[in-house]
Amino acid sequence: MTTRRHGISRRTLLRRGAVAAAGLSFDIGRRGLAHAAAAAGYVPRPPLPQYVLRIGATALDPDGKQAVKGVTANGVFPGPEIRVRQGDLLQVRVENLLEDEPTSIHWHGLLLPAAMDGVPEISNFPIAPKGVFVYEFPIRQSGTYWYHSHWGFQEQVGLGGPFVIEEADAPKTERDAVVMISDWMHASPKAVYDKLRGGPAKKEAPPMKGMKMGGSMPGGMKMSGGGGADLSDIKYDAFLMNGRSMADPWTLSANAGERIRLRLINAGASTYFRIRLDGHPLQVTHADGLAVQPVEVDHLLMGMAECYDVVVALKAGGSYTLHAVAQDGSGQALGVLHTPDVAPKVNLEMPRFDGRELTYAALSATAPTTLPEGPDRTHRLVLGGDMARYVWTINGQAYPKADPLPIRLGERVRLEMRNTTMMWHPMHLHGHFFRVLQGANELCPLKHTVNVAPSQTVTVEFTADNPGNWFFHCHNLYHLEAGMARVFHYVA
Ligand code: C2O
Ligand code: CU
Repeated sequence: MTTRRHGISRRTLLRRGAVAAAGLSFDIGRRGLAHAAAAAGYVPRPPLPQYVLRIGATALDPDGKQAVKGVTANGVFPGPEIRVRQGDLLQVRVENLLEDEPTSIHWHGLLLPAAMDGVPEISNFPIAPKGVFVYEFPIRQSGTYWYHSHWGFQEQVGLGGPFVIEEADAPKTERDAVVMISDWMHASPKAVYDKLRGGPAKKEAPPMKGMKMGGSMPGGMKMSGGGGADLSDIKYDAFLMNGRSMADPWTLSANAGERIRLRLINAGASTYFRIRLDGHPLQVTHADGLAVQPVEVDHLLMGMAECYDVVVALKAGGSYTLHAVAQDGSGQALGVLHTPDVAPKVNLEMPRFDGRELTYAALSATAPTTLPEGPDRTHRLVLGGDMARYVWTINGQAYPKADPLPIRLGERVRLEMRNTTMMWHPMHLHGHFFRVLQGANELCPLKHTVNVAPSQTVTVEFTADNPGNWFFHCHNLYHLEAGMARVFHYVA
């Protein structure tokens, strides 16, 4: 090999190549750099991403009854667990292998720059079919989170997974396991949605299969009178725990007395779940990823996208069923915790939800969450719905035909959400944690998703400290699709 092929001495090339490899100079062409690097025996490469998610079409049959056209990460459902440490710099390379559909991955509950938030048209371009996007962001927090597609109905058909951030300092429990709960239907969610909207049902979809008939109006919503609540408008075929049905449940073996940290994630698209472990109380230690003062309860209700960590210790040798019952009572997801000396045995009976229930009022942060002084801004948001047309609104507008909500950097923003509908809405804000206000309490818990029950008003507040455009929406996938969403926009 001649050292003068490019009209430049080998020594110069080496020197320039070394500088370029250190990222300090780009005055040398690609060919020149490669040549120099090869000559020096060193090939500069970007750091390898810690995770690669290949998004593709996968036939899924988690309840063993019917194969469904799923969309998965790396062919598995739930998606691979991402587990990092507080303080890491994370890189996830997402390859869209789908032939005909974009995708976009949202890191639910993570405090990251807007450009990494994964919401098409708001913070990111969607990842086109055959396209690739590398998400990269520093891990500024710890706890239990999850990721999911923010494109169409991909979240309902399998594209989501757990995201765990281990604390830099906290003592470890003997066992640590993710419990991801989801709802599952055999019909195409798009066809179900179109049916709810009164549109023509698509030919290829099994007609009405996913739609709940009993007690529902053809428009998809019950017209119940005052006082009652409408607990679901979608009919599911199964409820799953870590992707498994009750016929072949998820199990965890632990010795009696060992402390088990269960990282509960409600990854349901439109199902609230009530959680209970046979014969054991649950010690709630974290809400939406963040530590709270430990509180013991017998059961808890989880809205879509809420996360709770609970610590349990099996009292004695045996097999104990963990129940996640759909709020409307239509079914449950099950798992079994057992000591190694006994075979796991599932209890299919519906548990009773008596005893102590977790409430937001019982959640206290571990340090004051009072916001720094700053100019105030209040957005009063009426959560509404049009029964006949299956349109869900905020202040009468259905996204995307909806005005952005202005906020300014440094402001203390209050959201007063008034639910005028018969359904529950788990309202989620991207890129920020808000305090859920309970009077003048300085230990109000911080959350990323808050339930607003029928006829209830909930107030939250947060500091506007993360510039960009941020999605704010109901985490019922069908309500989101039908308009219950807005964009918070930082103005100058
Ligand atoms: Cu899990 Cu837009 O959110
Ligand atoms: Cu909703």
